[in-house]
Amino acid sequence: MKKVLVTGIAGLLGSHFSTHLLNQGYEVIGIDNLSGGYEDYIDKRIIESGNFYNFDLLQASQLDEVFKKHNPEYVYHFAAYAAEGLSPFIRNFNYNNNLISSINIINNCINYNVNKVIFTSSMAVYGIGTPPFTEDQSPSPVDPYGIAKYAVELDLEQAFDQFGLKYNIIRPHNVIGTKQNIWDKYRNVIGIWIRESLAGNPITIFGDGTQKRAFSDIQFYMKPFELLMTTNDCEIFNIGADHEYELNDIATLVQKIANEFGYNPEIKHLEPRHEVKDAYCNHDKAKNALGFEDKTNIESTIRDMFEWAVKQPVRETKKMEYEVEKNIYSFWK
Ligand SMILES: NC(=O)c1ccc[n+]([C@@H]2O[C@H](COP(=O)([O-])OP(=O)(O)OC[C@H]3O[C@@H](n4cnc5c(N)ncnc54)[C@H](O)[C@@H]3O)[C@@H](O)[C@H]2O)c1
Repeated sequence: MKKVLVTGIAGLLGSHFSTHLLNQGYEVIGIDNLSGGYEDYIDKRIIESGNFYNFDLLQASQLDEVFKKHNPEYVYHFAAYAAEGLSPFIRNFNYNNNLISSINIINNCINYNVNKVIFTSSMAVYGIGTPPFTEDQSPSPVDPYGIAKYAVELDLEQAFDQFGLKYNIIRPHNVIGTKQNIWDKYRNVIGIWIRESLAGNPITIFGDGTQKRAFSDIQFYMKPFELLMTTNDCEIFNIGADHEYELNDIATLVQKIANEFGYNPEIKHLEPRHEVKDAYCNHDKAKNALGFEDKTNIESTIRDMFEWAVKQPVRETKKMEYEVEKNIYSFWK
């Protein structure tokens, strides 16, 4: 039975993927500080086996204890705070949480001879360019979140060159599904719109809504993620949906589904954010090497999310402590 450590196990990718691993017969050890995920998202089998650890990855000595105790063979490092638009206002937090904590993971992977570490980077590393982005395009991130992700990518390359630590880099984008954090006001646009609908508030769009994004259902990531343990060492993969939509169209779809559930949100446009207008990727490499196939039916995925969301407890929507207040958007004040 292979031992796999999953960081960010209480989040969207971590919770779904760890259930997949358990069902395939792996032993799973999970870490999460519950800053962006919820304990009840974690598969009960992991909690019951005592293999869930609640601490911040910045706590290097606690992390070392987990590696020492379990000696994982593979590490999926999903933990991060992926609030790209907010990252310029929380620079210190962003680099600590997304870069330094990743370096703590890499140190332990080297020290404990992990077979491979799989890191979720982001499409944010591409920055402004001409989509669809391909893996051979030079990264040029335009915000601290993308810069942190790219720095981890470079560090992984270095760790392989010097210590032989094998790795994969996944660059996902706009993954959606149940167990997404819909209470965070800074990220996960469809989740935000579902929460706004349930609260009787308008669906809010930053700017004119002509930005394009491609959304994919988490369920299609499971097998390709698993395959990375044993194949395609040191490769980078974009992963996500091929079909991009204008946000206006997705907002209208969420509104329609909300109506089916008895909610009647209006759609409201807010001031624009500093963001890349059109961002989506080419996924040929993941299709060819990992058998990735995105069969997302956006309408039914959003309907499933809505059905799940109405059964969730009302959770707190937190305000971050801004390190930079200058030019902060009115809707985040
Ligand atoms: N979901 C997407 O569309 C998407 C797109 C691009 C990249 N990614 C990347 O994929 C990964 C997983 O994303 P997700 O959507 O599952 O996010 P998520 O927020 O749902 O899950 C991340 C989890 O990590 C935990 N975490 C954060 N910082 C931590 C820390 N310092 N110590 C311990 N735990 C910590 C959070 O509590 C949360 O449960 C992230 O690295 C993210 O940057 C996701």
